[in-house]
Amino acid sequence: MVTVIYVQPDGTRREIDAEAGDTVMTAATGNLVPGIIGDCGGGMSCATCHVFVDDQWLDSVGPREGDEDGMLETTAVTSTGQSRLGCQIVLDDTVDGLVVHVPECQE
Ligand code: FES
Repeated sequence: MVTVIYVQPDGTRREIDAEAGDTVMTAATGNLVPGIIGDCGGGMSCATCHVFVDDQWLDSVGPREGDEDGMLETTAVTSTGQSRLGCQIVLDDTVDGLVVHVPECQE
């Protein structure tokens, strides 16, 4: 199990026990975490899985890859240096306890 903590804009925290190999997006949508949609199913073509990685976890999560930078220019809430597509963060032991912040909106 890999624990992910989703923090809503109002500060509400929800802790999810996900399987290794899940992504931040699939763990959220599979557990009805509000605010993460994942319209394209992880195809990196919708940006409705936008999350802000908590400062303390940026190194563990690692850098953006491929076309992720471009998609993050299309997010509903302006992206920052902490922004990632949740579908591109694959969960494993190195990110157990990961904290991500959910944006105000995705569309
Ligand atoms: S689910 Fe569409 S870009 Fe992540």
